[in-house]
Amino acid sequence: MAEIFVTKRDGSLHRLDEPATGQPLMEVLRDNDMDVEALCGGCCSCATCHVFIDPEWMAKLAERSEDERDLVSETESYDEGRSRLSCQIPFTDELTGLKLTVAPAD
Ligand code: FES
Repeated sequence: MAEIFVTKRDGSLHRLDEPATGQPLMEVLRDNDMDVEALCGGCCSCATCHVFIDPEWMAKLAERSEDERDLVSETESYDEGRSRLSCQIPFTDELTGLKLTVAPAD
C-alpha cells in the first residue's frame, strides 16, 4: 500500500492508503474525490489535474516531459518548483509518504 497525503482546495488534509498499481496518480486523486477533475482523462491536454508537489518530493519524481512542462506552465497558479500534472506521474510504492496540494482551478 502506498500512503500519500493530500491537501484539498478547501485546505482539508487527507491520507489515502491505496494499493500501488502503476496507474496515474491523477486516477487515485480523482477516484477519491480530491478535487481533481481530469477533464481530458489523462491525455496531458487539460491541466485540470494540476497539483503542487511538496518540495522535498519534487526531486524524487521523474522530470516533466516537454508536453507536461508546456501545458502546466500556462496555468495561472504555475509554480516552477512544485507544479506537476498528476496524470503524468505513475502511482507506485516509491510514492509512499508523498505530500501534495491540489492546485486552484484556473
Ligand atoms: S488529466 Fe488532463 S492534463 Fe492531466
